[in-house]
Amino acid sequence: MSSMARQIGPPAGGVPLARPEIGSREEELALEVLRSGRLSLGPMGERFERELASWLGVEDAVAVSSGTTALHLGVRALGWGPDDEVLTSPFSFVASANCLLYEGAKPVFCDVDPVTLNLDPAAASAVVGERTRGILPIHIFGYPAAMVELEALATSHGLGILEDACEAIGAVDSEGRAVGTRGNLATFAFYANKQMTTGEGGMIVPSDPEAAARLRSERNQGRAADMGWLDHGGLGFNYRLSDLAAALGVAQVEKLDSLLERRAAVATLYEQRLAGVEGVEAPIAARGEERRSWFVYVVRLADGVDRDATIARLAERGIASKAYLPCIHLFPHLRELGYREGQFPVAEAASAHSLALPFFPAMSEAQVDRVCQELASALGQPPVRG
Ligand SMILES: Cc1ncc(COP(=O)(O)O)c(C=O)c1O
Repeated sequence: MSSMARQIGPPAGGVPLARPEIGSREEELALEVLRSGRLSLGPMGERFERELASWLGVEDAVAVSSGTTALHLGVRALGWGPDDEVLTSPFSFVASANCLLYEGAKPVFCDVDPVTLNLDPAAASAVVGERTRGILPIHIFGYPAAMVELEALATSHGLGILEDACEAIGAVDSEGRAVGTRGNLATFAFYANKQMTTGEGGMIVPSDPEAAARLRSERNQGRAADMGWLDHGGLGFNYRLSDLAAALGVAQVEKLDSLLERRAAVATLYEQRLAGVEGVEAPIAARGEERRSWFVYVVRLADGVDRDATIARLAERGIASKAYLPCIHLFPHLRELGYREGQFPVAEAASAHSLALPFFPAMSEAQVDRVCQELASALGQPPVRG
């Protein structure tokens, strides 16, 4: 393999896809943990849980090692298992379906809304069957899912809801409520490209205190809060978040409002510049009352545009970009359940045409201009006017 083919990011001086913002406050709190000697579960993790819960306006939040582990504990909390079917979107990161498979439940995919790219409530309603036990909506790319309609569907069929808000901290739904606070179980993720990061990490927001106690026990090998290290009240996992990671989380929550505002400002700049580029459809911030939390900046290329060639041309000019996202139902382990091409045409078309452009809060206007100029040029168009 040539060194060019192996290269993941852009060359030096290029524009990366994502970049976390880690500063002196993160360093200060991480140092505090290092000097404390408490590196696993400890006071910083508790502080992170309290501060994130307070930022979200919820009573409690349970920190775990990743968004995936948060989802897994959420599936267990809802009691979904063998013979249970859960309605979900094929246009997501694979973890939102894998978490069901871990417990033997079946993801039943339904097509998405062409504008929001989220689970289409009408498509979900059409496939509710005898075995349907729940709905797992994903707020994809930070755009709030149609929670009001999905909750109505859940209520009318007695279904549970596990919200995958891993990409959507700070989004607001059509009733003005923060994503993840509707009283279902909701999960957040803090991988390095997310709106806020702990490197690896996640959080689960349960609606009732009993669920929180069970989540805390399951993340910690089945130990209840009053048990010793070698006592186990039931099956559990090591899904703990380290205090070192939590230190980053505390610092990131402190500046979360600013991180979100700056992401939104970069999105606005992109929207202005891309208006001058043909064959590129910009993502929307809002269709109605809801508000996106900007996670990634994913454009849709017109039919006939060669996406791979566009990515390669951008890479030659130092601009990272990525085909984003592959449809989950077409991965080998989901094909084994009988899923095939052509079953979810809206999701598959979105997947075939979408392209993620560089996007991070410290992105300068000059960098946005450069990406848009290079994109226009990669598409064979004259330079766009700033
Ligand atoms: C929609 C969605 N669900 C779940 C996850 C899993 O989170 P993690 O990578 O922290 O396990 C992600 C992370 O990328 C995600 O985007």
